[in-house]
Amino acid sequence: MARALDAADPLGFARGRFAVPDGVYLDGNSLGMRPRAAAARVAATVEREWGEDLITSWTKHGWIDWPTALAEPLARLVGASADELAWADSTSINLTKLAVAALQSSGGRASGRRVIVTEARNFPTDLYVAQGISTLVPGVEVRHVAREALAEAMSDEVALLMLTHVDYRSGERHDVAALSAAARTVGALSLWDLSHSAGALDCRLEEWGADLAVGCGYKYLNGGPGAPAWLYVRRAHQPRLDNPLPGWMGHAAPFAFDGTYRPADGMRRWLTGTPPVIALAAVAAGLATFEGVEPGALEAKAGALTELFIAEVAARCPVLALAAPREASARGAQVSFAHPDAYAIVQALIARGVVGDFRAPDLMRFGFAPLATRFEDAVIAAEALAGVLSSGAWRDPAYAARKAVT
Ligand SMILES: Cc1ncc(COP(=O)(O)O)c(C=O)c1O
Repeated sequence: MARALDAADPLGFARGRFAVPDGVYLDGNSLGMRPRAAAARVAATVEREWGEDLITSWTKHGWIDWPTALAEPLARLVGASADELAWADSTSINLTKLAVAALQSSGGRASGRRVIVTEARNFPTDLYVAQGISTLVPGVEVRHVAREALAEAMSDEVALLMLTHVDYRSGERHDVAALSAAARTVGALSLWDLSHSAGALDCRLEEWGADLAVGCGYKYLNGGPGAPAWLYVRRAHQPRLDNPLPGWMGHAAPFAFDGTYRPADGMRRWLTGTPPVIALAAVAAGLATFEGVEPGALEAKAGALTELFIAEVAARCPVLALAAPREASARGAQVSFAHPDAYAIVQALIARGVVGDFRAPDLMRFGFAPLATRFEDAVIAAEALAGVLSSGAWRDPAYAARKAVT
């Protein structure tokens, strides 16, 4: 059945765009597979552009514009316009820039709004950023609110609602449109982390009414380890939000070497320092893997892959508790199962060539990057999981020690 699904898969052609490792790789939600074209793309930048054309490459090869030029292939994947997006820094830094900007915008400052609302189970870096801002910006309070109470937590004290679209552990999705509307109703801004959704789901930032957003380049977008991140600022907000980390690359005229900061119009103001050119070449290769791919098809395949995996695991491993929403429309492109020995089981699976990951305290997490993953992979992984559980292979002491880095 899985083979028939693969044969009929409208995205089946895209797997050939990746250097697919042996075994089954279900960790594209952490580090996307390497696009086949990445090595040549990066080599061209290193050897020809840097090696031969050196400094002239900033204009000759357009390096200076890459942070905004690469917004173009990203735009349709996140449902925004290219002039609302830029590539810069890391997700953590972009969260910091946008959250501080929101707090310092005329709405936040003049109205006395000082509260950031988030949820305690948000990804740790998002929480650390909020905590850090509360010590940097006077009067800021961070409120952790339970998922089901978020809409009601919106009040006229709130400056910013800061959430991650798809939960990194459970894969649960927030309703971005409904929560952004709830924030807007009380005059707050919304800031969404799309790290676990861009490149896997049908993201529609403009249509959803999201004010601000960020996301990783190295997960589903396949930009390579430590890839730069992207950020989104809704067009209507652009003139009134300032980058709190101003630098010369965000200046209206960087090469005028003016002693006074004057922000560039549009998204360029969100740059601080010099763009990471070689890393952006890899991002270009990552984004090229989506050529001819509609985001709706990504979401449909993510739903079907995760559905198949859940059914296969339920049939073979009744001992495992599903720790993800049962409805495909409520989850991202990942599935988690809870087990007290999740760490050892994941290690035993990796030894059998099925790469998922462990998330403390008791989750095994499997990501189904829809561009590169086959339906057959879902079945092979479920069989391997059942094999590990029934054989007790995971009890091998070699898998027992929880290592610091997984
Ligand atoms: C939801 C989420 N946000 C942010 C990050 C980290 O982003 P960065 O390393 O680009 O700062 C991660 C990393 O896994 C993540 O899962």
